[in-house]
Amino acid sequence: MTKSSAPGKIILFGEHAVVHGRPALAVPVIQVHAGVDVSDSSRAGIWIDASDINLQAELNTLPSDHPIASVVHNFLFLSRVSSFPNLEIKITSTIPVASGLGSGAAVTVALTRALASHLNYPMTDEEVNAFTYEIEKLHHGTPSGIDNTVITYAKPVYFVKGRSIEVFKVEQPFTIVIANTGISAPTKESVADVRTLWEADKVRWETVFDEIGEIVDQARKAIESEQWEMLGDLMNQNHSLLQKMTVSSPELDQLVEAARNARALGAKLSGGGRGGNMIALVEPEMAESVSSSLREAGAKNVIITQVT
Ligand code: MEV
Repeated sequence: MTKSSAPGKIILFGEHAVVHGRPALAVPVIQVHAGVDVSDSSRAGIWIDASDINLQAELNTLPSDHPIASVVHNFLFLSRVSSFPNLEIKITSTIPVASGLGSGAAVTVALTRALASHLNYPMTDEEVNAFTYEIEKLHHGTPSGIDNTVITYAKPVYFVKGRSIEVFKVEQPFTIVIANTGISAPTKESVADVRTLWEADKVRWETVFDEIGEIVDQARKAIESEQWEMLGDLMNQNHSLLQKMTVSSPELDQLVEAARNARALGAKLSGGGRGGNMIALVEPEMAESVSSSLREAGAKNVIITQVT
């Protein structure tokens, strides 16, 4: 049997503007992960068991654009496996689906690595990342590639679309509380809506994207120089610009407000917006009380994570 796993992720700064060529910061979230076991099977075919999403099926009975089936089909095509082996593929995930924590990209990365290792088709991180990006494009329209990158490398990344990967070191760990609105909002749609805004007034939105790019660069410096109050403040500024871009929502704003009132150093939505997650930067000793305030304000799921 061959096993592989991949973590979840959150975007710290720069979502949406990153689709338009500005930098963004993202970090892995190791409290949640997708795991894949691949083993030879005595049954004919390739059997997929993903009980978390109630899926138990033979590959060829699934539509070819099914998110999991498309990974296996594309992998078999890429690796030029001549005769289809009989396999059992078991997929488990603690990453809530469609929650902005990168569940799809994490399953793709773990499944690709498990298949590559089981079928003796060695792949570098760069190849896994490029393959996962192609799969992300099939399902998510025009993604920047940040999600697959941070999940493949499982390290904090400073990401600019089309540039080589820059992982960065966090010398002094810091604490983030992640809260989910419980509303699943497709990133594909919010990304498309931002594009529509941009098309209607490129000068205005290029300026907003530039402002976000500046915030991202300052945030990286604040992390490197351990200036947490400044980092919190930058989160608040980034959230205001995301509100302008129409990707926040009353539920996200309510959670952001609740975190700030509970003495988080700063808070913002994270990822595609409209639903999904928000994040708050907190002093470690405040993590529990900020989490309780977020639950009281309606958060459906709260995760405390250390960025290291
Ligand atoms: C989604 O995690 C981040 C977005 O910037 C989309 C993308 O970068 O592909 C909203």
